[in-house]
Amino acid sequence: TKNNGCSYKDYQFLKCFFFLITASSWSKWYANPNSWADLSGSSCGGNQQSPIDIQPRSTVTKAIPKFAFHNYGNIDKMIMMNNGHTAVYILPGGLPKNRVPYITGGGLNGSYAFIQCHLHWGGDSTKGSEHLIKSKSYPAELHLVHYNTKYGSFADATMHSDGLAVLGIFLQTGSDDNESFKPLVDQLGEVVTDHDETTLTNIVSFKDLLPKQTTSFYRYNGSLTTPNCQQIVIWTVFDTPVEISERQLKKYRQLENAEGEHLVNNFRPAQKENDRVVFYRSSTRCEISQSLPIMSYSFASQFLAFIGC
Ligand SMILES: *[C@@H]1O[C@H](CO)[C@@H](O)[C@H](O)[C@H]1NC(C)=O
Ligand SMILES: *[C@@H]1O[C@H](CO)[C@@H](O)[C@H](O)[C@H]1NC(C)=O
Ligand SMILES: *[C@@H]1O[C@H](CO)[C@@H](O)[C@H](O)[C@H]1NC(C)=O
Ligand SMILES: [Zn+2]
Repeated sequence: TKNNGCSYKDYQFLKCFFFLITASSWSKWYANPNSWADLSGSSCGGNQQSPIDIQPRSTVTKAIPKFAFHNYGNIDKMIMMNNGHTAVYILPGGLPKNRVPYITGGGLNGSYAFIQCHLHWGGDSTKGSEHLIKSKSYPAELHLVHYNTKYGSFADATMHSDGLAVLGIFLQTGSDDNESFKPLVDQLGEVVTDHDETTLTNIVSFKDLLPKQTTSFYRYNGSLTTPNCQQIVIWTVFDTPVEISERQLKKYRQLENAEGEHLVNNFRPAQKENDRVVFYRSSTRCEISQSLPIMSYSFASQFLAFIGC
């Protein structure tokens, strides 16, 4: 295949060019995101890169439909693996096609099927998220990666600018463990070493990983945040964070990379916004109320346009 036989298990095709560089120099090279653009065939120096520092005041409020989350319920026997850069969670091999989680709405054209999720975190809680809000980091960021089903497969979707839809969820730390994250966190001790893989014994509910409010979010066109940084991602960054405990986050910090070092600060720094527009869906300003039958849809949408939605 075009992807040198990389499977969807390989985190964002990193292993596709793994063979180009020896393992130890690879780790050093990877640790310096400024060098990523130098790799031949890399898009990391492009002008629609991710993550970005979102300045809420310069976003454009837009009336975007709500998301619909399908099959976002209980998944048994998910696979968790340490790929040297993050903990990545993938669907069990035998999951029937009609049970694969997918999303529609949210201003996306068509349906986007879940392929994997993973996190980015800091060495301590002063940093860790990839996206920033008003130049501020959160301690971690969860990415739910989906591919456009009209392209048939994840690999084929990565060849198109509307190929992927990634949902970004900020994690902040609170005093209590978050029960929803327990299935993801509890077995991290089984994947401490690079390439370790395990089957989760607890059922994962994606619905429970979403923030309380999914009706307000930022939207922009961007890229993968690891090489080759392909500019194929429709980004959704929810502005409502979710809370996990410091103790739960620490379990991620105890993972190790290929060199046996603590796997921390696995976030890419903010990239230039260039001439991109970041849209914002507001949960309060831009709803077309169902309880106002008198207001026709076209009148309502003109009204929303008038108030800047
Ligand atoms: C949405 O997807 C359909 C089906 O692939 C395509 O025909 C159409 O052009 C797309 N619309 C936009 C606005 O991209
Ligand atoms: C736990 O996480 C879920 C989703 O990630 C979130 O909706 C919920 O508010 C969190 N619980 C607490 C107590 O913060
Ligand atoms: C993303 O790019 C597509 C195609 O160029 C464009 O139609 C769309 O409006 C862009 N979306 C955002 C949020 O800028
Ligand atoms: Zn990510």
